[in-house]
Amino acid sequence: MTTGKNILVVGGAGFIGSHTTLALSEAGYNVTVYDNFSTGHRDACFDLDVVEGDLSDQPKLTAVLKDKDIACVVHFAALIEAGQSVIDPYAFYENNVAATLALLQAMRAADVGHLVFSSTAAVYGNQDVDMLSEDLPKQPVNPYGHSKLMVETVLQTAVDAYGLTSVALRYFNASGADAKGRTGERHDPETHLIPLLIQAALGQRDHFKIFGTDYDTPDGSCIRDYIHVSDLAAGHVAAVGYVLRRTQPSFEGMNLGTGTGHSVREVVDTVKRVSERDFRVDECPRRAGDPAKLVADSTRAQQALGWHAQHSDLDTIVRDAWHFFRTRNR
Ligand SMILES: NC(=O)c1ccc[n+]([C@@H]2O[C@H](COP(=O)([O-])OP(=O)(O)OC[C@H]3O[C@@H](n4cnc5c(N)ncnc54)[C@H](O)[C@@H]3O)[C@@H](O)[C@H]2O)c1
Repeated sequence: MTTGKNILVVGGAGFIGSHTTLALSEAGYNVTVYDNFSTGHRDACFDLDVVEGDLSDQPKLTAVLKDKDIACVVHFAALIEAGQSVIDPYAFYENNVAATLALLQAMRAADVGHLVFSSTAAVYGNQDVDMLSEDLPKQPVNPYGHSKLMVETVLQTAVDAYGLTSVALRYFNASGADAKGRTGERHDPETHLIPLLIQAALGQRDHFKIFGTDYDTPDGSCIRDYIHVSDLAAGHVAAVGYVLRRTQPSFEGMNLGTGTGHSVREVVDTVKRVSERDFRVDECPRRAGDPAKLVADSTRAQQALGWHAQHSDLDTIVRDAWHFFRTRNR
């Protein structure tokens, strides 16, 4: 039995973190959120136990891990905008790598040996394959992807050195919102496709831009693997159980995606249909560094975690996101 244990969710006030804290609580874990609220929201912590603090504050983290008798840490806290990471890479290495080392040192000091880490499909970079599997070479194309891969390397070396057991979950395109509308995506500035389309549908932006309509894909626009954030949350619950049940220290990277790709044009059409609103769509040249297609092979997570995406058909993702945005904007 792993439920009933105490879990520290670092970055639990953010988009994916807040869905995961709900899922962990519903699974019977006792959750403490640790967040500096740089991009997270206090009302996304519900009535959970909350400690305000920074990922880099090793003494504070050590004290929290000891005081709360934490069995496992789920670590979401990071800067996440790949484009921004090209402009200000030091900030990304500082917050995503150096501050994560403070967390790992605190875990070692408090004798907490289990971790679930937020990684990303960006560790793969541009690959000429139909589906991305974990064994492909990792070749990130921006400092954000590098920062996540660096942490994965650290976790790998911590297995033998310190007896750490960890899983890095490499998410594809996180999207959707809690079906009950309790939390959803609130990034500022927003750069993710579905929220941008919904803002256009709500008249909060006067048009939407498709970057690249001449890719080698059926309709010429980029193809991505959209995974419902509640499916990601379920993946974290499964991964927490998995690391807590392991009898030997280990590190594994696992993809979380659906295995199905949707083009940008398809997503545009779905948002227009679900919202019953029309908006202007401009076709623009490709952006540098955008691969034509990114689709996950999630066989490893299915086999190791017994996890399957259950809410990630595009209509459900867009409906839940639309419902969340529209309710927030009333
Ligand atoms: N959103 C996606 O599509 C996506 C895809 C792949 C991977 N990821 C990864 O998932 C994780 C969560 O992403 P998200 O979309 O929920 O982002 P988010 O910005 O909504 O959440 C990040 C949370 O971490 C907190 N945080 C950041 N730096 C901190 C620090 N130094 N100390 C304490 N708290 C800090 C923020 O306040 C926020 O609550 C990130 O690690 C991101 O790299 C996200």
